[in-house]
Amino acid sequence: MASSAIPAADLRSFAEYLKGCKRIIALLGAGISASSGLPTFRGAGGLWRSYEATDLATPEAFDANPDLVWQFYSYRRHMALKAQPNRAHYALAELARRNTDFITLTQNVDGLSPRANHPSKQLHHLHGSLFTVKCTSFYCTYSRENDFTDPLVPALAIPDNTPELNPSTDDKTGEVASRSLSQALKGGEIKEADISDERVPLPALSTDVLPHCPKCKEGLLRPGVVWFGESLPSKTLNQVDKWMNAAFVDLILVIGTSSKVYPAAGYVDKARARGARVAVVNMDRNDVGSSGLQPGDWFFQGDAGTIVPELLKGVIGEV
Ligand code: OAD
Repeated sequence: MASSAIPAADLRSFAEYLKGCKRIIALLGAGISASSGLPTFRGAGGLWRSYEATDLATPEAFDANPDLVWQFYSYRRHMALKAQPNRAHYALAELARRNTDFITLTQNVDGLSPRANHPSKQLHHLHGSLFTVKCTSFYCTYSRENDFTDPLVPALAIPDNTPELNPSTDDKTGEVASRSLSQALKGGEIKEADISDERVPLPALSTDVLPHCPKCKEGLLRPGVVWFGESLPSKTLNQVDKWMNAAFVDLILVIGTSSKVYPAAGYVDKARARGARVAVVNMDRNDVGSSGLQPGDWFFQGDAGTIVPELLKGVIGEV
């Protein structure tokens, strides 16, 4: 989308206001990474559609089928690594370098903000990261961040020619294709046309070949993401609350999120209660959160990768 798609009067009033802002917060959702080609959660998905989120993204699922869950997360890691940060990730990273009182809360686990060199102290991962691994043993506290090894272990390798298959609209996980499926396709055992909502059989991998803890040597490692039924990381929440309560907030940028998942979505009202004006960047005009837009807010409709750098240009220059 060309920058001219942003209504000039809105762009002017936002840019003017931004110049005077000191304390700024950004809330990011999957839409910012859609500009990098990664699928969103509530939009189109793909082959993993035949699995419920509860089959893949809960502690119970991991206990019951660690091989299935690891294959899903290996696929997500692989896809995220193939994607590149876009101009919106770089623009926010640049704003963070220029304004140390700007923090970003991301719901994304895809690692694109860190890979855009977003200053880590100003970036809070509310839902964890695909690139953190931690030990599942009750007695072990091992965890490792920013591990971009792909595959983590040979058994979890994803072939480069994994096909991008047609998305469905009823996806619960927001993710596509699996290693075993791509192999089956390649080998001609199944054809793309055969793929429906039928559950795709995955190979059973023995626990021995899954990633294990290098510290205790016994526990299985798990992805460092927040699963359904788990709490958000308390240290992160405390840091954000501390920042939020330290002084009034000038602005919250709400970028590419459906604003339906709490507690993340609740930060918009928290910021508003601290005096913030709200600027939403989203493809969908309806995705403005439960309290809607209020006088003085902005809504910028379109692709985050184009709009965000344009909005911030007056302060950060070109990225
Ligand atoms: P959603 O899939 O719910 O929403 C993505 C939003 O991005 C939608 O509002 C789209 O309209 C918008 N969008 C899509 N493409 C865009 C683009 N190119 N530019 C701008 N906006 C675009 O994703 P999230 O809001 O991130 O939680 O979902 C929140 C949480 O729900 C996720 O973190 C995940 C999921 O359950 C956990 O895994 C814990």
